[in-house]
Amino acid sequence: MKSSLYNNPQLVIESGQTPQGMITWQSPSNLALIKYWGKYGQQMPRNPSISLTLEQAYTQMTLEWGPKDGTDKTIELELFFQQMRHEGFEEELKLRMQKLLEMFPFLHQMRLIVDTFNSFPHSAGIASSASSMSALALCLCSLEDELFGTLSDDVEFERKASYAARLLSGSACRSIYGSAALWGETPGVPDSSDLYAIPMESKIHNVFKSFHNAILIVSQEEKSVSSSAGHQLMQDHPFADARYQQAKQRLHQIMGALESGEIDRVGDIIEQEALTLHALMMQSNPSYILMEPATLTLIRKIRQYRKDTGIPAYFSLDAGPNIHLLYPDDKHEQVTDFIVTELVPHCQDGVYISDKVGEGPVQM
Ligand code: DP6
Repeated sequence: MKSSLYNNPQLVIESGQTPQGMITWQSPSNLALIKYWGKYGQQMPRNPSISLTLEQAYTQMTLEWGPKDGTDKTIELELFFQQMRHEGFEEELKLRMQKLLEMFPFLHQMRLIVDTFNSFPHSAGIASSASSMSALALCLCSLEDELFGTLSDDVEFERKASYAARLLSGSACRSIYGSAALWGETPGVPDSSDLYAIPMESKIHNVFKSFHNAILIVSQEEKSVSSSAGHQLMQDHPFADARYQQAKQRLHQIMGALESGEIDRVGDIIEQEALTLHALMMQSNPSYILMEPATLTLIRKIRQYRKDTGIPAYFSLDAGPNIHLLYPDDKHEQVTDFIVTELVPHCQDGVYISDKVGEGPVQM
């Protein structure tokens, strides 16, 4: 399949006919169980990844459009973040949206206003690119459909949104689907692709559809390495090839366990993946240690708790110090007690976010 799959020069507005309107989407963040780490070309992943879609950590984005004064080919956009104009994010967004001009050539014919709001504190150290960039991709597909009536088929709509989200931020392509999503070509999964994610809801056991994910905030500081710079570190990484092989093997194993409902098997794999991601960063040049002392304290406590109680609570990490604690719904009460008494004292300002697997984006 070509990487220019959705380029469409016909999506242009006849001069003088730019309408006005607005659309709002709410789109969640997601947690990768098998991590995407390493990319090439136009946001192509070096290995497939699979994630659970979250519920409480989301972006709500309104896109407003109207006629533009000039006829130049720049993107005219104003961005409001949590109700305040944010020129820094505005420039970054325009840069990212440049990658979408061949898919949505009408974008440089209009004036755009993006009003975006995150349900979680910006400083909470949660990657907001998955939720915000998936929300933007959904808004743009809605805009296309409104202007040209080209995306009335839901499957096609979601696929194109996922494709656009990937170009904006890789992990965002997985947020388009509820429960779980797979991104990357995978043997034995016919529809899988490096170009977009596909829904996995029907391929995971019910126990995972109500899984909890408590996000324990160890540090609210900005990440010292952006994920784009992080992916770059895999370029000349001594373990790169072995890592991509390992990710594929682990994906195969975890898909089996997700389908049959083997919580402990899934839990073992996600902990290995989290630690592998950090091991890769420690081994790269320059090297990064993104865990904090409290991250290790929490990991030890979680493992000890599991040993003592037999309750299947497992941790994951993204490219930062915060812990994601995953556990099944029927243990919510006990695990919440454990979080509050044992884990929260190690969180910065006692902050944690109680989240769970959700049903995916909604148009408002
Ligand atoms: C560690 O999707 O943020 O969260 O494509 O450069 O925007 P870009 O990177 P991004 O990388 C996410 C990395 C990760 C693992 C994952 O979500 O799979």
